[in-house]
Amino acid sequence: MSTYNTAFTSDNLAGVSPQVLEAMARCNEGQADPYGRDKCSRQAEKMLSDVFEKDVRVFFVSTGTAANCLSLSSITPPWGAVLCHHDGHINHDECGAPEFFNPGARVLTLDGVDSKIDPEALKWGVKHRVGDMHSSQPATVSLTQATESGSIYTLDEICRLGAITKNSGLRMHMDGARFANALVALNCSPADMTWKCGVDVLSFGATKNGTMSAEAIVVFDKTIAQEMSFRVKRSGQLGSKMRFMAAQMLGYLENDLWIQNARQANAMAALLKSGLEKLPEISVVGSPQANIIFCKIPKYCADRLLAQGFHFYHSKWEKDVVRFVTSFSTTEQDVQHFLSAIYEAVSYQKAV
Ligand SMILES: Cc1ncc(COP(=O)(O)O)c(C=O)c1O
Repeated sequence: MSTYNTAFTSDNLAGVSPQVLEAMARCNEGQADPYGRDKCSRQAEKMLSDVFEKDVRVFFVSTGTAANCLSLSSITPPWGAVLCHHDGHINHDECGAPEFFNPGARVLTLDGVDSKIDPEALKWGVKHRVGDMHSSQPATVSLTQATESGSIYTLDEICRLGAITKNSGLRMHMDGARFANALVALNCSPADMTWKCGVDVLSFGATKNGTMSAEAIVVFDKTIAQEMSFRVKRSGQLGSKMRFMAAQMLGYLENDLWIQNARQANAMAALLKSGLEKLPEISVVGSPQANIIFCKIPKYCADRLLAQGFHFYHSKWEKDVVRFVTSFSTTEQDVQHFLSAIYEAVSYQKAV
């Protein structure tokens, strides 16, 4: 068995940071009030308020899909349209859950390079059939930071989309399944990347970056907080032993573990990308800046790597496009080992 981590499929394949497990053990002591009324839940909400430099309401849920769909349903009426990029996770990868959580509402997609919503497309989208009672009404804009293809919206880009959204009277959601990866890449504050640019509600991802199964819905606009609490319960996401989800978040935030983990994941992706770029046979697709890299790779090379036991998504997108994802648990040795195998796979074909 290889001593290296050969899985580049997803950051979901990583385990849990030991600090998160320790925090869970700490919160395990004694009895605690259920359903989020415990000390750890209050502490985690306070920590997130500090992180975001704002008094926020926080709801812990077990998946990113639940975080997205609860967020969207709380700011979108049943006749509303959620505008997102075509590549959006809510469009492609949530099995219609946004519409399931909010029957009647629809996801409508917009274009833009590198999986980022084009402001001109948004300007069109926010006006699309407004007032026409036969059509879904633009209600919400949802953007993913970092995006599904590993690119990152700059602060200016988020604020520009935020201004178009707000000027049209719409609400804004951010899918932050990889929020930390974007944050460290931009080297900005969490407040700058969210509510200061108009984000009303954020899916604050943590599971891909060190927790076991804890995501936070961070509500900046408190007018939706009460409704959110009912929605969380109705969707079966109000954990009775919420303290353990909160504990994960405490371990995640304490001593900036989330920042360190994201830095590691991004650094390993950058290392992998620079190695891939040395090979004329391989071309990196788009502008990866976080921990996801899409690239075009000859089939013989992908096949050889898969046969050797490396794992990554392939044949899901256009021909010969594969996806490599690093995580906080990816080491430099793992990347070098993978790159050596890629170099070998490329030259093997040349030799035969
Ligand atoms: C951008 C993005 N948003 C949301 C999710 C949903 O997370 P989950 O699988 O926990 O529902 C994912 C998961 O891959 C994702 O990549």
